[in-house]
Amino acid sequence: MEMEEKNETIVNRPKADASVSQGVTAEEAKALIRAALDKLASSYAPYSHFHVASALLCSDGSVHTGVNIENASYPATNCAERTAFFKAVSEGHRDFRAIAICGGKNGRPAGYCAPCGICRQVMREFCSLDSFQIILAASEEDYRIYSLEELLPVSFGPENL
Ligand code: THU
Repeated sequence: MEMEEKNETIVNRPKADASVSQGVTAEEAKALIRAALDKLASSYAPYSHFHVASALLCSDGSVHTGVNIENASYPATNCAERTAFFKAVSEGHRDFRAIAICGGKNGRPAGYCAPCGICRQVMREFCSLDSFQIILAASEEDYRIYSLEELLPVSFGPENL
């Protein structure tokens, strides 16, 4: 029963306010996942061997990918999600609909790779809490979608300053 309730919160659920909803279609989700999977080979993870890739969909339809980039000084590592966001923002994009994330040991996604807290906070800077969709993908067929609010409840953002 509890499991069923949990699954209810997993997405593609209809939004109450249609004007706010910009949910990705299954085709868009699969295309984003494919774009992320295709980038896994570019991940630079010689220390953890945990390879992560992401694909960020903008409202203009453009897709910006990112991978994790590790560093011998470990804290200098950049996650795949932040790489995608920083690439996109530095190219003038600020309006985002969804991000697909995949990752796993030795580049083989074996489950859902959820974004770390810092990446969630970076998303919070630019994305709508209720309409931005975070797609955690093990494969093109096996994925779950969460809203940013689900992954970062009771958050601090630009409007708090
Ligand atoms: N990593 C990401 O790129 N994204 C995440 O959401 C989780 C963690 C990376 C950082 C590091 O290179 C490796 O995964 C292991 O923590």
